[in-house]
Amino acid sequence: MALIEPSDLIPGVRQILFNRPDKLNALSTPLMREFESALEEAAADPDVRVIVLRGAGGKAFVAGADIAEYQGHKRAEFIAYQLNSRRVFDWLERIAKPVICAIDGFALGGGFEIALCCDILLLSETAQLGLPEGRLGLCPGGGGTQRLLRAVGKYAASDLLLAGWRMSAERALALGIAAEVAPAEGMDEAILRRARACLKIAPLAAAEMKRLLREGADAGIETAKSLEQETLFRLYSTADGQEGIDAFLEKRDPQFRME
Ligand code: COA
Repeated sequence: MALIEPSDLIPGVRQILFNRPDKLNALSTPLMREFESALEEAAADPDVRVIVLRGAGGKAFVAGADIAEYQGHKRAEFIAYQLNSRRVFDWLERIAKPVICAIDGFALGGGFEIALCCDILLLSETAQLGLPEGRLGLCPGGGGTQRLLRAVGKYAASDLLLAGWRMSAERALALGIAAEVAPAEGMDEAILRRARACLKIAPLAAAEMKRLLREGADAGIETAKSLEQETLFRLYSTADGQEGIDAFLEKRDPQFRME
């Protein structure tokens, strides 16, 4: 059985399913390998406009790194695993397409770190987010402390890291991490609703805005505003930019061609 199952939910929307429900979709080395190649395929396929990440089984998105692989002081393997996770997560954050993370149940450790690399988080009411590595005597290693700090600030981040507290869906919504909280049985519909909305954004514009959010977050405000205007001027000169304007004025749906 594949540990990662890619499928197209509707044309243009590729779901990548973590499929190891008996271990709450924990990120074993083979699973990470399959995850990376499914992401590569989705990122490279021009017909894929939106990527959805989800966990199988309903109980967890992903419960973190595979703790069984950590046992026994295999320091070189441990370091290799961490370096690889960091590389894959960083790359996930840079994919030039919107990535929706749909979380049913637990998103812990590496699972929450993956979510923090995505663009839109949809949570079921059962979702619980956490970085419990401190309970193992460790700390996150895939960028979790730093992305969480930047997403919610020091105090909300400290609660997860220093108290090992799991964040509820309601709290994630209040902190602005979750775009929406849906009942468990409404998740399929919530995902499709968001994915269809993403499909209406011109793909080049989406890619550029994603980059602006990422690069702007660590830049000074004047530099970031200049990045934004340069981007707009570039988009205005594209065929899709003109098509979007024409379509609005002609009261029709735009046909974006990524040019
Ligand atoms: N790595 C390896 N196996 C894991 C795992 C992980 N991160 N998370 C869960 N599993 C396994 C359990 O060992 C168990 O396997 P088993 O049935 O063969 O014993 C199975 O998944 C079900 O988990 P279980 O702990 O029985 O479910 P639960 O409902 O009692 O608890 C959690 C759920 C998520 C609270 C608990 O599994 C947990 O704390 N997981 C680890 C989370 C973590 O620390 N992540 C960061 C890792 S660095």
